[in-house]
Amino acid sequence: MISGKEALRKLLNIYAKCPLFSKLHIWVRFKSCPFLELIKYIPEDGKILDLGCGYGLFTCLLHLTSPGRNIIGIDLDRKKLGIAIKVTTNCSEKISFRMGDICEIGENDLDCITIIDVLYLIPFERWELIFENCFNRLKPNGLLLIKEMGKKPSWKYIWNLIQETLSVKIFNITEGNSFYFKTPLELGEDLRRIGFKVTRLDLNKRYAHPHFLYLCRKG
Ligand SMILES: C[S@@+](CC[C@H](N)C(=O)[O-])C[C@H]1O[C@@H](n2cnc3c(N)ncnc32)[C@H](O)[C@@H]1O
Repeated sequence: MISGKEALRKLLNIYAKCPLFSKLHIWVRFKSCPFLELIKYIPEDGKILDLGCGYGLFTCLLHLTSPGRNIIGIDLDRKKLGIAIKVTTNCSEKISFRMGDICEIGENDLDCITIIDVLYLIPFERWELIFENCFNRLKPNGLLLIKEMGKKPSWKYIWNLIQETLSVKIFNITEGNSFYFKTPLELGEDLRRIGFKVTRLDLNKRYAHPHFLYLCRKG
């Protein structure tokens, strides 16, 4: 398993020619999100979609930690995708990016789909469609991995809201209008209703944010 230091060094190397702000974003994002915890659950090879991939940080990490993976990153934000495509040109034919809405994926027979800190930007009424679509596009026993913020402890939830308000509504770093957070119990139930076998993991320890992981297995 790659160490945090080594992973960050390799990532900063990939993004070396990007504007300073993007590099800073990669650094802060890597330090504040348990990406290496998440990686442990992803299959070592097979076809993987990273929905709402942003600058492609996790997409790149998936490739760095197992080059056998066939990964497609999808996002709505043209600017972020532009950076993701630029830094991975000549990287490998197994990693690619395209513009698209999380609700309209077309790929089939997927081994894994990841959705990391994206749902909170999408109105609740669209979540069921997203989960159903993921369920139908995964292979039997395929994995949907969702990382979202929980609501406890309260101070971490409030800290996250302040940070997201700055990021989305003041500085326009991430596109969006409102925020949509559910408790881990509520989100877990939504996913079970679709047919997933769900394991919930609280990852908030050692972080300033209330990270919560949902491992959703297509039975
Ligand atoms: C907080 S960023 C997370 C990016 C990346 N997953 C990560 O962990 O670094 C949220 C991303 O979701 C994308 N996004 C929001 N709504 C989306 C949608 N309907 N379809 C695809 N991407 C979307 C945004 O453009 C943004 O890049």
